[in-house]
Amino acid sequence: MLVFGTRPEAIKMCPLANELKSRPDEFEAVVCVTGQHREMLDQVLRAFSVEPDHDLAIMRPGQTLFDITCDVLLDIRAVLEKERPDVVLVHGDTTTSFAAALACFYLRIPVGHVEAGLRTRNLLSPWPEEFNRQAVDVLAEYYFAPTYRSKQNLIDEGKPSEKIFVTGNTGIDALRTTVRDGYRNEHLDWAHGSRLILITAHRRENLGEPMARMFRAIRRVMDEHPDVKAIYPIHMNPQVREVAERELSGEDRIRIIDPLEVVDFHNFIAASYLVLTDSGGIQEEAPSLGKPVLVMRDTTERPEGVVCGTLKLVGTEEQAVYSSFSELLDSDKAYRSMSRASNPYGDGHASERIADVLGGKEPACLL
Ligand code: UD1
Ligand code: UDP
Repeated sequence: MLVFGTRPEAIKMCPLANELKSRPDEFEAVVCVTGQHREMLDQVLRAFSVEPDHDLAIMRPGQTLFDITCDVLLDIRAVLEKERPDVVLVHGDTTTSFAAALACFYLRIPVGHVEAGLRTRNLLSPWPEEFNRQAVDVLAEYYFAPTYRSKQNLIDEGKPSEKIFVTGNTGIDALRTTVRDGYRNEHLDWAHGSRLILITAHRRENLGEPMARMFRAIRRVMDEHPDVKAIYPIHMNPQVREVAERELSGEDRIRIIDPLEVVDFHNFIAASYLVLTDSGGIQEEAPSLGKPVLVMRDTTERPEGVVCGTLKLVGTEEQAVYSSFSELLDSDKAYRSMSRASNPYGDGHASERIADVLGGKEPACLL
């Protein structure tokens, strides 16, 4: 059984769901979504043609971590008791993953953690995700680590190496199927002839003042660079929308639009000049496409992209975001040094490797 509930988990679990479903002689794959997200989850399910077998539909406006944790824990119990899966796969670091894994632990059902071993080792950043991912790794039976670095993180914590499999990130599997030459879209037509900046922001620890600072910096840089246009597909969280509306509206060269379908978003990254984000998944996708990313966070659990030069951690202070963003627009040298394509997060075959492990086969090694 695969359990997921938010947009990024869906983008990274649907390729795996489809891989498992393509091997009916080996697996009976059951998909349970918690519905922690609604519209943003459904968009992804449609894009990958995945139909959930169970939908807990827990999302409510203004949901707190208490709501999500309790609702998932209580509601998934009956599903797990009915299906009695041989193994439950959860992904990454969301509250859906943590609560679903905890429910499995209570029912003594083995958990496989997809995207295991990412760490900042700061429980407050990202919050609450660093706790969630560490907690899942305390009880998991299978660790599907996207990189050798994430495997090492698990070994450093004493996890048994025979339970850790380096697979690459399933997000790169998704990316292989979405980006295409000749892609057209009205927003990209609008930005044609300008350097396109793609913006996203949603982290809970950045809500409020940190987000306002980030947006003020972006606004100042945009005002100073008339040859630049920005597109910001905004998260559905009303708290994000309120700050963005206040700080960014009234600048004609910034378009705030509804969340994009994943196929569109990946093609937008490919068409962009650079990306400004506090997202996790985008830090994996943009390096593959050779796009510089300014990461508006204090920590990253994805240092591979920083090491290979495509990601720069700029924090959330207004002046720091302003300086790094301006530099990338004004200095060819700075831009070129960050715009090399590299694939530190996998080769696009992670789902096959995970399925091989679950089916008892020796997976092909990730180089
Ligand atoms: C969640 C995850 C975070 C992940 C992010 C991806 C937790 C604690 N956080 O954060 O790790 O990076 O998803 O986007 O698990 N909303 C809608 N429709 C949607 C989705 C969200 O209206 O389709 C609104 C709801 O009002 C909801 C709010 O957004 O209350 C926040 O959603 P929530 O899942 O609680 O937190 P995220 O910040 O999205
Ligand atoms: N994404 C998308 N549409 C958008 C913005 C992002 O499909 O309008 C995708 C993006 O390609 C990445 C994922 O959503 O795969 C990132 O999700 P998010 O930033 O919400 O969560 P995080 O990765 O930070 O957990």
